[in-house]
Amino acid sequence: MTAVVQSAYGLDGIEVGERPVPAAGPGQLRIKVAASTVNPMDWHLATGRPGLVRLVEGFGRPKHQTLGREVCGVVDQLGPGVTDFEIGQSVFGWVIGAFAEYAIAEVDRLWLAPKGITNFESAALPVAGAAAMEAVERGDVAGKRVVVNGASGGVGHYAVQIAKASGAQWVAGVCSSKNAAFVRGLGADQVIDYRLDDFTGERWDVVIDCIGNRVGSEIRRALVADGRWVVVGDHNKNGLLGPLPRVVARLVRWRFGSQSCHWFVQREDSRYLAGLAGLVDEGHVRPHLSETFAVGDVRAGYERIESGRAVGKLSVDLTSATNAELTEMTSEDEPRS
Ligand SMILES: NC(=O)c1ccc[n+]([C@@H]2O[C@H](COP(=O)([O-])OP(=O)(O)OC[C@H]3O[C@@H](n4cnc5c(N)ncnc54)[C@H](OP(=O)(O)O)[C@@H]3O)[C@@H](O)[C@H]2O)c1
Repeated sequence: MTAVVQSAYGLDGIEVGERPVPAAGPGQLRIKVAASTVNPMDWHLATGRPGLVRLVEGFGRPKHQTLGREVCGVVDQLGPGVTDFEIGQSVFGWVIGAFAEYAIAEVDRLWLAPKGITNFESAALPVAGAAAMEAVERGDVAGKRVVVNGASGGVGHYAVQIAKASGAQWVAGVCSSKNAAFVRGLGADQVIDYRLDDFTGERWDVVIDCIGNRVGSEIRRALVADGRWVVVGDHNKNGLLGPLPRVVARLVRWRFGSQSCHWFVQREDSRYLAGLAGLVDEGHVRPHLSETFAVGDVRAGYERIESGRAVGKLSVDLTSATNAELTEMTSEDEPRS
């Protein structure tokens, strides 16, 4: 089958290659992939930056050489013991190796794709949607004044919609002027152009921070006495540990006092997929795709992420892969985690 692969860290190493079609093992199913996306996480995994990524994903070269981590497609094979899904169902969720004609998924990382949106839109939900959902949960936003820093990005555009759906009293989105109309269209009550205004000049109950470009003292001043700073992303992508030392120091410092700082690594839990599908079905959330990349052009998607200028989500069209001959291999042939 055709797949987007990488045998060495760095965007130069990304290429289209051939891989055997994988077979579903116990508790797994195989998906005929329709669509995936490129996320900042994909960029970290492909570049091996910060260095911490290599400790987890392979020191010398990437452990998982087929790229892509979120997916929408059709169930095409059930592994032994799988009874929760049926062949032919349209599903979405997290996988390892989404940029391929076929991908293997664990049953607890999948959910039925929402009706009424495209495969491309469903594929854009798991990574950024679940992060936004967890951020909104940690912000406990009902009845509160919320600001989303980075409202035009993948996570931010979901956070605005989910905060509104969760009963936030006022939601402001921080973005540049070129994305102001887009963020208003998501339902934001206020748009703050970060090139002209400073969101820390106002008072907020909750800051959902997808950018991480402000220091703690600025956020403290901008929060009410029991306000919450929910840190989703950080601008520091380099060094061995990236933002980790700063995050740890911040979490220690913010243990004292009534204001709180929340940081999380988003869990691949199908509870979030079910929640996102429900929000889509009820009309509260709609993924926004700004660009779609063909299989042979996926590297351009990574470069767009690297630029920091992606709007909403960037999708990858797996129907653009040529149909390779289906040669089965056993599930042991390719290590998965
Ligand atoms: N904690 C977790 O588990 C978790 C999960 C998912 C993602 N993340 C992290 O969350 C962060 C956001 O992810 P994402 O998918 O939303 O990224 P993204 O889509 O690549 O974000 C790009 C957006 O950021 C905006 N932006 C850039 N600089 C800005 C600034 N100074 N102020 C406000 N907006 C700015 C850009 O708008 P303009 O072009 O208008 O500037 C662009 O629309 C990343 O660091 C990612 O690694 C963490």
